[in-house]
Amino acid sequence: MTKKIHSSDFGKNFIWGVSTAAFQIEGAHDKHGKGPSIWDVFTSRKGKIRGNDTAKTSCDFYHRYKEDIYLMKSLNIPNFRFSISWSRILPMGTGKINTEGIAFYNRVIDYCLEQDITPWITLYHWDLPHELELKGGWTNREILDWFEEYTKVCAQSFGDRVKHWMVLNEPMVFTGGGYFLGVHAPGKKGMRNFLPAVHHAQLSQAVGGRMIRKWIHDAKIGTTYSCSYIVPKNKSPRNIRAAKRVDALLNRLFIEPVLGLGYPEKDLPILKKLKPFILPGDMGKSQFEFDFIGIQNYTREVVQHSYFIPYIRAKIIEAPKRKVITTLMDWEVYPPSIYEMIRKYSEYCTMPNLIITENGAAFQDTFTEGKIKDKKRQKFLKDHLEQVLKAKKKGLNVHGYFVWTLTDNFEWAEGYHPGFGLVHVDFKTQKRTVKKSGKWYKTFLDVRN
Ligand code: NOJ
Repeated sequence: MTKKIHSSDFGKNFIWGVSTAAFQIEGAHDKHGKGPSIWDVFTSRKGKIRGNDTAKTSCDFYHRYKEDIYLMKSLNIPNFRFSISWSRILPMGTGKINTEGIAFYNRVIDYCLEQDITPWITLYHWDLPHELELKGGWTNREILDWFEEYTKVCAQSFGDRVKHWMVLNEPMVFTGGGYFLGVHAPGKKGMRNFLPAVHHAQLSQAVGGRMIRKWIHDAKIGTTYSCSYIVPKNKSPRNIRAAKRVDALLNRLFIEPVLGLGYPEKDLPILKKLKPFILPGDMGKSQFEFDFIGIQNYTREVVQHSYFIPYIRAKIIEAPKRKVITTLMDWEVYPPSIYEMIRKYSEYCTMPNLIITENGAAFQDTFTEGKIKDKKRQKFLKDHLEQVLKAKKKGLNVHGYFVWTLTDNFEWAEGYHPGFGLVHVDFKTQKRTVKKSGKWYKTFLDVRN
């Protein structure tokens, strides 16, 4: 019998929650003055999303936020991380404010507080206003001003009640997927888009951080990073060097400038090509003292050297080819990865507190007699939490954990196929059914237990 794990093992002040993102749950894509975002446009293009799914309605959180927040309450979840849709607040990206958009988030925040749930806001979870993409989006340096304006509106509107803020969600994923590979919105490709997008997204971390600090003196400010434990296929020096390059790209690119370490170009020489976009003073402006850093970990990657992959000369060996246990995303299930990432980030001597702002898994759930059995997800969460606890017991700087995610929702290019939720959603009827993993998390969090 494996030992039971309980939230109290992590100490009284450990932060527990669930994470979501506006585009993935809200629906109401053109309601009450909302402008289109790059994801509204991208999902309307045939062949971009699995099954040509769209998020026009998704979980309809826009209309059902009370039900979902109440569901959180009933599952003993004390913290709720959600993002603001920029084009719901500023339909054109800048300029005229949509008061109905502000009113919606006020309703969400107020209902959270009524239910004794602490709201955590992510400013940017990938849904850039389409109008701004028409001007180049993240490739245009003017985005620093656009983002500053948007941040100011949010901080001024919600800062009296919301004290936990995250600037960007996974900049490596939205620049890599959206401006290099073209598999995410806005679907742009190549180095000429990727490099400026990286530098501007990187700078906007500190731009956003400073703006929040200016308007909300008692805010706890963070930003979040996707990260994976990177291991070489074997001990050959070529593969070890290849793994180092991938690690620099996936795990270090956005955090190191914030900490004042510059870009990790020694380990990833292609980053020298960022130079033309770096104006005098930029690396100083990149630094910001965050109160916490959000770690988002789902898997590990195994890497080998490859002459055929341009720029990085390294290849990630896909998990199905390695014949390991995978999720519906084809990601390897490898719980020690989360421990390794906490350890790795703790090694930066100026690293603030770490919070796991996302961790979770998509599996095929089985429905029997109205109940949803998702043993694999429950085990995934338990195994990862054990690794987080191990890190905490070793004295590493980890202070919180948020499950991705509350309800099954729109999983970007994968559409509705992979469900990550603790709660199942029937997208035809919008009926919510708590999965076994949701009930397990409830018991895990129960203070009376
Ligand atoms: C990271 C992203 O922040 C989130 O939007 C996504 O759904 C999950 N990972 C799962 O892929």
